[in-house]
Amino acid sequence: MVKVLPTSRETPSHTRVGDASRVLKRFYVAERQLMRTLAAWFVQTSQWDLKRQLAQDTWETAQRADALRTRVLELRYPRRDVDRKYDPDMLAFMAEVAKAGDPREFVAGVYDVALPALRDAYRAYLERTDPLDDAPTAYRLRHIIADVAAQIDRMRALCAEVFAGAPEALEAWRGYLRQYLDSIGGMDGFGAKAAPPTGHVCAGRPDYEAPRRTVRDARWRPALFHLPHENKYDTEGQRAWKRLEALDKRVAMQVWSAISHFNEIWAAEAPASAMWDLDDQPWEFYMDLARWAWDETRHSTMGYRVMQGWGWDVPDLVPWGNATYNALGPMPPIQRLALLYFYEEGLLRAGTKQVELRILESAQDGASAQDMDYDWADEAIHVSFGYKWLKHLLGDDKAGREELQRLTDEARAIMARFVTEHKDDPEARLAPYFERLYDVVAEMVYDIPDDGLEINWAPVVADEEVLEEL
Ligand SMILES: [Fe+2]
Ligand SMILES: [Fe+2]
Repeated sequence: MVKVLPTSRETPSHTRVGDASRVLKRFYVAERQLMRTLAAWFVQTSQWDLKRQLAQDTWETAQRADALRTRVLELRYPRRDVDRKYDPDMLAFMAEVAKAGDPREFVAGVYDVALPALRDAYRAYLERTDPLDDAPTAYRLRHIIADVAAQIDRMRALCAEVFAGAPEALEAWRGYLRQYLDSIGGMDGFGAKAAPPTGHVCAGRPDYEAPRRTVRDARWRPALFHLPHENKYDTEGQRAWKRLEALDKRVAMQVWSAISHFNEIWAAEAPASAMWDLDDQPWEFYMDLARWAWDETRHSTMGYRVMQGWGWDVPDLVPWGNATYNALGPMPPIQRLALLYFYEEGLLRAGTKQVELRILESAQDGASAQDMDYDWADEAIHVSFGYKWLKHLLGDDKAGREELQRLTDEARAIMARFVTEHKDDPEARLAPYFERLYDVVAEMVYDIPDDGLEINWAPVVADEEVLEEL
């Protein structure tokens, strides 16, 4: 026999450091894969209200994954193997979540099954863990739970607005995912494991792939471009645009900045699709690309909000192009990022943001000026993302730089070819849009005192040089 003192308190099972780091890593893998899946389905979804919500939720999910990952690293310090040997059961479950048949089913799987299960598992962890010993986890989980609950509530409210009724087939999909999750022992893995429900009517679907083509919201008329300047053969469109400019260059800038912002959605689709296509990159890659995709969706929403604020019927009046993503779609993900970087770096270097902001201020358009100011702040970060990750993906040496140049040149040529191939498509001609818009804008303009600003501005498109060569 030996002598001891009694334990001063009871400790539940699964609450030691090893348990905590194992469970939190499994949560991290769930959130990480959910983030990538949301990004891919953001590209796939055309309904605008739903689409922009998926971009926001992608970024928020990245924040949760990051908090969990950081905590795992603390608990295992100095071990750095958090991104090795992901739990295969969790990977398999999240791969099933991605296999939804359409956005409605996808949202039902994520917001009615996966996220509520995660929320409950986080709550169970909080109840179980020692609030003193494991205080840094408890702090993070309280915020994470609030974040997940807000995402669920927000999406359910949005679905009630966007979708009429709830098709019964959804319940089969939810039921399948619940059974699958049970079979892997639940989100925390503490439940009894069983064979996956391979006999279920929803089982056995092919692996999910992010779409190479994007479709715009059915409420909009089909359009390839958003400005006649993108298709130099669209002379009628350019004439229609000139009438807007003739009202005042300030008016043209106000209209241009709203429509251009709205059409930045392709710049969100490019990094979001890369988040799915590339699944073996350092964690910071996904953090940065989630931010990039959400920022560009915010910029798009900025334009939309301005036009709604003017009382415009946006789907009726404003072209929403799909040419850029659809021309880029077949390219490898690195090449899509290379072209996006080329465009953004070029525009920022040319100092266009300062000029645009100055003209919007001269127009006394406080809303558009503030949007442009934040857009500028975001764009500077995006250029650093592009620089950092293209160097990482292609190599930080002469060969890497040459490959970046080659990929960029080839992508620019593909874009130029797309314009010549589609220049005469009815969707490539923008005069009808800008003629309708002129009438609306001409009704709205009013006089303010002239501040004497000299304006030498014409709409900027991403690659003037290539268009000139056509
Ligand atoms: Fe942007
Ligand atoms: Fe950007």
